[in-house]
Parts: sequence; structure tokens; C-alpha cells
Amino acid sequence: MKHTTLGDLDVSRIGLGAMGMSVFYTGAGTDDAESVRTVQRAVDLGVTFIDTAEVYGPYVNEELVGRALKGRRDEVVLATKFGMISHADADGGIGVLDGSRANIRTAVEGSLKRLGTDHIDLYYQHRVDPDTPVEEVAGAVGELVQEGKVRHLGLSEAGPDTIRRAHAVHPVTAVQSSYSLWNREVEERVLPALRELGIGFVPYSPLGHGFLTGTLRSPEQFDEGDWRRTSPRFQGENFRRNLALADEVRAVADEAGATPAQVALAWLLSRGEHIVPIPGTKRVARVEENTAADTVELTAGQLAKLDSLPPAAGRDHSEEERRLIER
Ligand SMILES: NC(=O)c1ccc[n+]([C@@H]2O[C@H](COP(=O)([O-])OP(=O)(O)OC[C@H]3O[C@@H](n4cnc5c(N)ncnc54)[C@H](OP(=O)(O)O)[C@@H]3O)[C@@H](O)[C@H]2O)c1
Repeated sequence: MKHTTLGDLDVSRIGLGAMGMSVFYTGAGTDDAESVRTVQRAVDLGVTFIDTAEVYGPYVNEELVGRALKGRRDEVVLATKFGMISHADADGGIGVLDGSRANIRTAVEGSLKRLGTDHIDLYYQHRVDPDTPVEEVAGAVGELVQEGKVRHLGLSEAGPDTIRRAHAVHPVTAVQSSYSLWNREVEERVLPALRELGIGFVPYSPLGHGFLTGTLRSPEQFDEGDWRRTSPRFQGENFRRNLALADEVRAVADEAGATPAQVALAWLLSRGEHIVPIPGTKRVARVEENTAADTVELTAGQLAKLDSLPPAAGRDHSEEERRLIER
């Protein structure tokens, strides 16, 4: 696989997101053996960038990644996230934002243990905590870097002002936010700021939660607990209207001799050298397909067609989730 850099961190051009192996999407947690094989196949194929988080499960996704990488830890850049579990909270604190120094110090010990490692390569704050200045967050992660427990600081769904404030305290290596053919908000303010500061960008949900692959044709395909049932974009009339978008991606894919998933990823790669998508899958065949996107070359005409796709119908996130997202 090709490689690139996020800040001064070397990673494969495409990574692997592990979230859906354990939570949020239909079938999560039903076949951990296949999920483990998927991580291992990714590494065999040259993927060196694996993404998880403390809150996925919670906890079980980090355990799964740790199991899958046993004996191969040093072949990858391991990224995880903190700050969506408040360990001081009497009710378990799942989903409670907490970027305090004390919470980060508790969180890191758990993540290291579950991942079976003595260091985390890239440690992201999962969402900006309005009650903790980001300077405190960056300072606390900076201490962990000094101690050798963490190598690099990342932020997720942070806006330019927060990024600049954090970067002034400790260098930010990468920002991870939602970015794909049908979710381009970061292009306005976030990506220009990152380019200026020399910070890498990691698009999450690069396949539009699977929608851009063209395999999702009806909301009936989703289990009761599937996160996509809460997303306005996946509901009723919006879902139906968005199918035209997926069909256009497929038309470009047919012309390019690639799959829709590969086209969605190749388009992201074309957006910048230091943009590293982390498509999620729990299946070996799909990690093979997605990883091969780094060899897909789209023509100027195909890129132009993708660039001019109409905006998606409906928001990606619910109002409640949007409140936690900075742009
Ligand atoms: N920072 C954050 O707040 C945040 C939020 C969301 C996600 N993330 C990270 O980003 C990663 C990727 O995002 P995501 O998983 O939300 O969305 P995604 O990568 O856009 O899409 C994943 C979905 O697409 C399906 N899929 C994958 N490859 C496919 C293919 N070639 N053909 C057909 N379907 C395919 C997967 O199903 P199967 O698994 O069944 O193949 C899964 O349901 C996550 O794993 C997580 O690590 C971070």
C-alpha cells in the first residue's frame, strides 16, 4: 500500500475503522472471529492504521482490536479516543463528555490494558468538552507523551478555533471528522485550517455509513438498534431521494472499472495528500475491496462528476449529536 503522513506520523494511505465490528451497525458483535480476521487481513495487505475508541462497546472494541493485533502490535499505528466516558460519574459515565486531566489519566490506563500495549500512537479527544478548556486536554495528553504512554495528540469533530488553541499547547497530529461524498462541511473552515497548520485529516464514515456503496436500498435492512435509524438522512423520503446519489456513484464506478466503495474512497484520496480515510468493515472480502482503492485512478471527468453531486437529503446526525460537533 501507498503511505503518507499525518503531521509527522507515517501511515498507510487507507486505514481500517473497527467501530462497526462491535457497535452501531446491523450485525455488530455477531461474528468476532471474522472481525479479528478482518483486522489481520488488513495488516497482511499493508494497512498500518487501525482506529478504535474507548466508548465503542463500550470497551469491547478495544479488546477485540487488542486480540486481533496480538504479536503484531508494532506493525501498526494504533489510534484510540477518550472523553466520551466520564470515569468519575457514579452511573458509569457512558456518553458523558469529560476532557479533564484526571479523566484522561484514568482512561489511558484502561485503553492501554485492553489494547495490550504500552503505548497509543494517536490519542484523540473524541468530542470537544465544553466544560474543560482544550488547553487542559492538550496539556494532559502532552504529559502522557512525555511519559511515553502516548505518541501523538488528535482531536475529533473539533472546529478551527479549538484546533488552534490545542495546537498552541501541544502539536496536534490529526483531526478526525465526518467527511465523504455526501458530507462535505469540513471543506469550508476545517480543512483550510489544517492545511495551514500542517495537521493531517482522517475522514470517518468515508463510505457514508455504507450508503455510498450502493448496497443499502431500504431502511428495512437495518436492525432495531442500528444507529442509522436515528439519522435523518436514512429515514423515509430522505432515504429514497438519496438512492439517486448512490446510483450516480455506481455509474462512475462502472465507468472506472471499480466498485462504488472504491470510488468513494478514491475521491477522498484525491482531496489531499494528507487525508487518510478509515473505512469500517467487519468482513475480510470488504477490507480487501476497500484497501485496493489506493490503486484506483479516477479521470478528471469522473472527479468532476463526483464533485458536482447534489447535496444529500437530510442531515447526517440528529440535532442532539450535532450539538457536539464543531465546524
Ligand atoms: N470520531 C468519530 O466520532 C467517529 C464516528 C464514526 C466512525 N468513526 C470511525 O470511522 C470508522 C469508519 O466509519 P463508519 O464505520 O461509521 O462508516 P463507513 O466506513 O462509512 O461505513 C461502514 C459501513 O459500510 C459497510 N461497508 C464497508 N465496506 C463496504 C463495501 N466495500 N461494500 C459494501 N458495504 C461496505 C460496513 O458494513 P460491514 O461491516 O458489514 O462490511 C458498515 O456498515 C469507524 O469504524 C470508526 O473507527 C469515528
